[in-house]
Amino acid sequence: MKKLRTAIFGTGFMGRVHTEGVRRLGNVEVAAIAGSTADKARKFADEVGVDRSTGDYHELLADPSIDAVHVCTPNALHFPMSKAAMEAGKHVLCEKPLAMSTAEAQEMVRLAREKNLANCTFHNLRYYPQVQNMRRMREAGDLGEIYAVQGTYSQDWLLYDTDFNWRIESDMNGRSRAFADIGTHWCDMVEHITGLRVTSLCADLQTFHKTRKKPKGSIETFSGKTLQPSDYTEIPIDTEDFGAVLLRLGEKTRGAMTVSQISAGRKNRLFVEIYGTKASVAWNQESPDELWIGERNTPNRIVVKDPSLLAEKARSYADLPGGHSEGYDDTFKQVFRRFYRTVADRHAPVEYPTFEDGLRQLRILETVLESSAKHAWADVK
Ligand SMILES: NC(=O)c1ccc[n+]([C@@H]2O[C@H](COP(=O)([O-])OP(=O)(O)OC[C@H]3O[C@@H](n4cnc5c(N)ncnc54)[C@H](O)[C@@H]3O)[C@@H](O)[C@H]2O)c1
Repeated sequence: MKKLRTAIFGTGFMGRVHTEGVRRLGNVEVAAIAGSTADKARKFADEVGVDRSTGDYHELLADPSIDAVHVCTPNALHFPMSKAAMEAGKHVLCEKPLAMSTAEAQEMVRLAREKNLANCTFHNLRYYPQVQNMRRMREAGDLGEIYAVQGTYSQDWLLYDTDFNWRIESDMNGRSRAFADIGTHWCDMVEHITGLRVTSLCADLQTFHKTRKKPKGSIETFSGKTLQPSDYTEIPIDTEDFGAVLLRLGEKTRGAMTVSQISAGRKNRLFVEIYGTKASVAWNQESPDELWIGERNTPNRIVVKDPSLLAEKARSYADLPGGHSEGYDDTFKQVFRRFYRTVADRHAPVEYPTFEDGLRQLRILETVLESSAKHAWADVK
């Protein structure tokens, strides 16, 4: 079988996890790496054993042997890189948030459709086996009608004013930080599980650090924690550290969530609770194999991931027998497997989040910003 050939754009946290994840498939070769400079790209390519590297991603787009690209760069580059890739006829898997605005995302959706290219917004967190289990339980009617959803996505890596990353600066990140970075994952997951759509919301965003100390050298995601507080420039901050959002999902269902990058001790606590008329489910990304199920008249239980105990349609998302953990990097493999199936066969079903899903999350995000600025409820357009 002919191997598909792909290129990874970005050599940071996601560049590495995508490279590893793609290689687990077996039928896709990481053929080239593009970095912000030729030196950075070469250094990373040497570490991961890829022959070809460049400091200019356009070079790779001119290569007809490359089928697809992974855009794993700061948010401001998602649109120009994806657009150029699609214009060159490449299938695109782009990190979230899909773009800096809904206008950019709409153009990406249009271009993918016009060129008939596989397109994915990387909301990978849907693909933990227990998240799929909750979705399939809801589809089968096990939860009943959904009354309410609640939860949080909380981290601590930007707690101090010395913590820094490109996400802090709106020119590379966009106007929202905590909600764009992790709140969009939470909303995508809740909409995916419940099958409902956020229709209106009331948001309150807060920036605790009005200024931060920017290191003079560049740093990559999460690595700022180990820096010494020397050699900083103090800069003003216009992206939020925290947000609280009330949600309406249609006429009846109500919800509430918080998003935070300043919660000491919370590393990646994505927590969702879904309350239905028959049963409730709750799940925490930090213990991903465990699903809590609550019922009014029987004892509550925790079901540990085991393919034989998952809802039938959720089983294909678990590759390992019970007792063997499946975590964050396995979600990458699950999305890549389904994405490359559609690259190889353009008639295969699309079982992953597309650019339209990414656009939808940006619509919610823009409503969050609008609501918080107006101190009022706002409808998702
Ligand atoms: N899906 C997830 O779970 C998840 C997790 C983390 C980050 N992300 C997303 O992934 C993207 C990247 O985030 P990250 O945490 O990997 O950031 P990072 O800072 O660790 O890496 C970004 C990389 O992009 C490179 N880069 C910058 N300009 C470039 C250019 N012109 N050409 C090629 N490379 C260039 C940088 O050198 C750096 O290596 C962001 O959009 C972020 O929101 C998604």
